[in-house]
Amino acid sequence: MLKIRPYMVEDLPGVLAIQADVLPQSGWSGGDYERLHASPHGLILIAESEVHDADGVIVGFSATRSLGEDAELLALAVATPCQRQGVGRSLLRETCTLLKKRGSRRVYLEVRASNCTAIELYRKAGFTFHSVRKDYYNHPREDAWIMESALLPAHPLVLH
Ligand SMILES: CC(C)(COP(=O)(O)OP(=O)(O)OC[C@H]1O[C@@H](n2cnc3c(N)ncnc32)[C@H](O)[C@@H]1OP(=O)(O)O)[C@@H](O)C(=O)NCCC(=O)NCCS
Repeated sequence: MLKIRPYMVEDLPGVLAIQADVLPQSGWSGGDYERLHASPHGLILIAESEVHDADGVIVGFSATRSLGEDAELLALAVATPCQRQGVGRSLLRETCTLLKKRGSRRVYLEVRASNCTAIELYRKAGFTFHSVRKDYYNHPREDAWIMESALLPAHPLVLH
């Protein structure tokens, strides 16, 4: 069974392992995650696969930062063997729910223009295209798409 829960310091090795697996170019260090976790503006969520009578296994995470009424999705990642099983969708839904409870009204994210998988997930979750940051990424050089979603009380956070 899948459980979405807040990050704890013991989760760092699992988070870094997933980052190395699916977001190797992100450049985030352990210290970056620890600082975000310690910040009142940071929110890191862990997706854990619960195994009967055993410790759960971390299968994904999200990381966000809020600034006033705006929030930014900094990372969303699911371990390769666990992809396409609804983990990313669950993480995104819970992230948006908690951001909304914390007072965020809008969430933004940056995604590589070629990352059709993530763009499709975001689009289905209600995010829309906002703008392009030309040549924003390196290795390979590529545009970033900025996407946004309103977090209004009536906003349907249900995938179509
Ligand atoms: C993007 C990512 C987080 C999606 O996580 P996931 O758990 O595999 O996604 P889900 O199973 O919840 O899929 C939700 C929806 O996203 C879309 N999607 C997910 N994987 C897809 C794929 N390989 N091809 C096309 N669409 C896909 C589908 O619309 C899917 O809904 P459906 O299964 O009902 O068709 C995951 O692929 C990942 O970690 N990628 C590498 C890191 C990354 O690119 N992060 C985003 C950076 S901005």
